[in-house]
Amino acid sequence: MSRSSALSVPHLTTAAGSLVPEVVHCGHRPPHWVAMNSADVSTWPFWAPSDLASVEEALSLSGLVAGEVLIDLGCGDGQVLVAAAERGARVVGVESDPELVDLARAALETREVDGEVIAGDLFDVDLDADVVFTYLAPATLQRLVHVLSPRRGTRLVTVDFDVPGFDADERAGAARLYRMPGRRRSPRGPAGWTCAGALVVAPPEHQSLTVLDLDHPGGPVTATLVGGVAGGGALLAGADEAARFERVAVDVRWEDHAQGTVLDGGIEVAGLDTFALFVVFDEAAESGCWELTDEGVRRLRTHLENGDAARDGVALVREGGG
Ligand SMILES: C[S@@+](CC[C@H](N)C(=O)[O-])C[C@H]1O[C@@H](n2cnc3c(N)ncnc32)[C@H](O)[C@@H]1O
Repeated sequence: MSRSSALSVPHLTTAAGSLVPEVVHCGHRPPHWVAMNSADVSTWPFWAPSDLASVEEALSLSGLVAGEVLIDLGCGDGQVLVAAAERGARVVGVESDPELVDLARAALETREVDGEVIAGDLFDVDLDADVVFTYLAPATLQRLVHVLSPRRGTRLVTVDFDVPGFDADERAGAARLYRMPGRRRSPRGPAGWTCAGALVVAPPEHQSLTVLDLDHPGGPVTATLVGGVAGGGALLAGADEAARFERVAVDVRWEDHAQGTVLDGGIEVAGLDTFALFVVFDEAAESGCWELTDEGVRRLRTHLENGDAARDGVALVREGGG
């Protein structure tokens, strides 16, 4: 594994807060775990309302002024539309989930503010706006920025997630501002995953999201779940084609699994070592995602192959022992 030496911990891993570079698991925000209504991976509809303080931060960071047009791509229950409309913006929401479309329209009505909610896929609508607000997963953001980039002057604000491969122009709390066409980060080698693998602890009976990334060797992006994780979730990469060493987001959506389920597999990308992925569905354990070195992968796999309890393996990794 070309880049695992970048990790500072010799054996298993670090805690999620100090990952190098970041490997985020949305399970760190347990109240936001909400089952998604659609099995349609193409729209990648993970649903969680953004924190209202972050919304206000993002709107201020965007420099939104009365009379400007704000689009919330994936507007969920419409809370962002209401907040922006109350600042005097003309608001448009786009949402693929029909139940959320109804909720967003109802929210505008209840709060007596004007706005439009378009039912459909955000990649199918005209993105003519002064400000584009998003609380979307990185692979979707990466795909979106290529569509937005030609719209010079449009301000894109994201919550919680960076746009992979781009430097934010400004940040405030959980919000980031990108002025289009965006400042593309120069790709740096070598190609590879940022670590050898990851241990994911997810709550059972919920769909959830794990966010990973890699520096691509260049060419078509063909990331595939393999082994025990293959039937357990679905994967979306941030690009179909990548330049040499381009950072590519890889989002994995886990389906709901029963308490105690353990999945052992990986992600295959042509030209790279297989990224090892262990997923433990355990309601008693704190959710999270921990990076693994090669040695960490070996030890955890041996531990599971010996039939030892997954929970002990999780404790081993989280305590950085081994
Ligand atoms: C994390 S929620 C954010 C909701 C809202 N923007 C907020 O900040 O509270 C993401 C929303 O985007 C919607 N979504 C995801 N992919 C979409 C797509 N391709 N087209 C339209 N909506 C999408 C989901 O259904 C979900 O409601």
